[in-house]
Amino acid sequence: MKAFTYTANPSRVVFGAGALGQVAAEVDRLGARRALVLSTPEQVDAARRVAGLLGERAAGVFAQAAMHVPIETARAAREEARRLGADCAVAIGGGSTTGLGKAIALESQLPIVAIPTTYAGSEVTPIWGLTEGGVKKTGRDARVLPRTVIYDPELTLTLPLALTVTSALNAIAHGCEGLYAHDGNPVVALMAEEGIRASAAALPALQRDPRDIEARGDALAGAWLCGVVLGSAAMGLHHKLCHTLGGTFNLPHAETHTVVLPHALAYNAAAAPEAMGRIARALGLAEAEGVPRAVQALAARLGAPTSLRELGMPAEGVERATELAVTTPYPNPRPLEREALRSLIQRAWEGAAPADD
Ligand SMILES: NC(=O)c1ccc[n+]([C@@H]2O[C@H](COP(=O)([O-])OP(=O)(O)OC[C@H]3O[C@@H](n4cnc5c(N)ncnc54)[C@H](O)[C@@H]3O)[C@@H](O)[C@H]2O)c1
Repeated sequence: MKAFTYTANPSRVVFGAGALGQVAAEVDRLGARRALVLSTPEQVDAARRVAGLLGERAAGVFAQAAMHVPIETARAAREEARRLGADCAVAIGGGSTTGLGKAIALESQLPIVAIPTTYAGSEVTPIWGLTEGGVKKTGRDARVLPRTVIYDPELTLTLPLALTVTSALNAIAHGCEGLYAHDGNPVVALMAEEGIRASAAALPALQRDPRDIEARGDALAGAWLCGVVLGSAAMGLHHKLCHTLGGTFNLPHAETHTVVLPHALAYNAAAAPEAMGRIARALGLAEAEGVPRAVQALAARLGAPTSLRELGMPAEGVERATELAVTTPYPNPRPLEREALRSLIQRAWEGAAPADD
């Protein structure tokens, strides 16, 4: 067993179908009296429902959350929180809405209650992101970690199947990279393996019936575990590449993760045999060698995108992305090799099978 250091991120988790009904009690538990409810414009009805449940504890609704937290939106939300005298924020939605809550907490230390409705996992990480002038900055700060997370599978029943699949694969990607993280440990590995298993097992059931509440619960529990992994271990090639590709070519978050994951796993496979063995076990595969192709086949069977081209990345972007991918080194099982990375990005762009080596 190699030496490790592990700091658990403290959050209170309330999980279960109908758990949204506890939102007022959870706000009371924080000692807060004036909650600002956050959502995207598309989920304003969910935000209004939360405000209704909060009654007099609701100070207002700010329904302007947007992907990658534009600094202008963060400033407007901070100003609204100040204007209303809010002493807590309740964020209902996916990673974009949780991210807006974090942007408020980063400046004001306001406690956040997160109510996730996708499988992104941001609600249990101390990672924040802000986009200014087209450039996304990210950082880790314990102040942005939501204090309470309410996981209610009923809220995910409206998540379209396409986003259900790509969002769960986004969660699976956190688990996979946690298994070969340079700062991983036995607790992270346990959570990662079970998170991958639960997420992958839920998907075929959700393809048959997106309103299967048991499968929705399994997918959300898997997302929680994989999110904890994301918040506890350093991510490698896969997450760095997706961050670069998403930011440079304005590609959708969960879909980009879905396309890149098989290729990033193939790149690292030979350098991370133990991790591949655990991913294979989580996916119910006999052979660790088959992991990258099995992940791609799973995505394809579920109707998810398999190429960066179909996500809107231009062909000439492959060279640009390769340049960016080798500019800032970071720990990864296999060192960053320019030619192999160029080939990886090219394959992901075309939607080719992951490389064999
Ligand atoms: N900081 C972190 O730890 C972390 C982790 C993961 C993702 N992120 C960030 O989160 C963002 C992506 O989040 P995401 O993939 O959850 O997507 P998202 O939050 O952007 O949501 C995508 C769309 O789906 C809608 N939606 C969400 N849940 C729904 C539901 N149950 N029913 C119907 N519609 C629903 C949203 O309103 C939005 O219109 C990216 O900016 C990414 O960088 C951050």
